[in-house]
Amino acid sequence: MQTLHLSKNDTKKAADILKNGGIVAIPTETVYGLAASAFNEKAISKIFKAKGRPADNPLIVHISNLKDIYEVVSSFPETAQKLAEKFWPGPLTMILPKNPNIPSIVTAGMDSVAVRFPSNKIAQEIISFSGVPLVAPSANLSGSPSPTEFLHVCEDLEGRADALVDGGSCCIGLESTVISLLNDTVSLLRPGAITVSQIKSIVGDVQINNGVYLKLDPKEKVLSPGMKYKHYAPKTKVILVSGCSEKYAEFLNAKQNENILALCFDEDIPYLTTSYISYGSISNFKEQAKNLFNCLRKADKLNINTIYAHSNLKGKDVDLAVYNRLIRSAGFDIIKL
Ligand code: TXA
Ligand code: MG
Repeated sequence: MQTLHLSKNDTKKAADILKNGGIVAIPTETVYGLAASAFNEKAISKIFKAKGRPADNPLIVHISNLKDIYEVVSSFPETAQKLAEKFWPGPLTMILPKNPNIPSIVTAGMDSVAVRFPSNKIAQEIISFSGVPLVAPSANLSGSPSPTEFLHVCEDLEGRADALVDGGSCCIGLESTVISLLNDTVSLLRPGAITVSQIKSIVGDVQINNGVYLKLDPKEKVLSPGMKYKHYAPKTKVILVSGCSEKYAEFLNAKQNENILALCFDEDIPYLTTSYISYGSISNFKEQAKNLFNCLRKADKLNINTIYAHSNLKGKDVDLAVYNRLIRSAGFDIIKL
């Protein structure tokens, strides 16, 4: 398949391709997405094929105007309205009862649908010009780190999509926060740039689903199918290491002849005698979020045996999102020093 490269000024062209049943990678503020019309089953099946995505993992539907919400959902409760007022457009995805017109391939046969209104202007224009809501999973091959730069999209989807739109670097760098609003409770299924305390300030209580921190049994029934897959992983083995800078460096320096890489914080650098890539300052969670996937992709090109990633454990703020992605990229392998 020939893949057209488009610039941020080609939003009409991108929309025309989508209207004609094509699949197009588009920038958003979180990560790049691989888009298709939410009503075109044939185009949507091309997305699953291009990404190598399991059919039981549902897609997020993206809108560019709040008035289009009822094309996607069958009810939009007051809690959801309040959250939309506060956080849309932006990196928050809500799981709500599905409009019957949304094809079941989008939702993997479930009665619920994930919906998001991105703030990225290029994404908004492409959705508006398409005239329909767009499904868009992250524009990576299934399992690999999500793309935060146009280069990453080209690496994964050249020859697999009809077009790729270059929107530069994604400013957040991790996927949207996903919450479920089914059953009159708000539960966090995937942490992101909109934090638990921000959501609590609007809705009161938020339950944090076990899958945010823990490894789930692949056979277990999960609220969000994406939780059970190995994710965000480079080809190189990743192991998380927790502990202070001195201990982290001491542990790694003892392995410096083993062809390893430290995926570290800026503050660790003075202590390290191994090769390293820093993903930001230890206390700057937004910086870590923006750099993480890019660093994992860079590390993968270095032909090393193991990446030892320094991690703050769990966290409450955007560091919870960083931890959630790192622990998955490491297949839940942690060394606590
Ligand atoms: O920031 C983002 O959300 C990016 C950009 C492109 O918008 N998109 C994204 O999509 O991360 P994807 O497909 O990579 O992740 C969507 C996640 C998956 O874990 C999926 O299982 C979950 O959302 N999901 C989608 N629909 C769901 C539903 N009805 N119920 C529960 N989980 C759902
Ligand atoms: Mg994804």
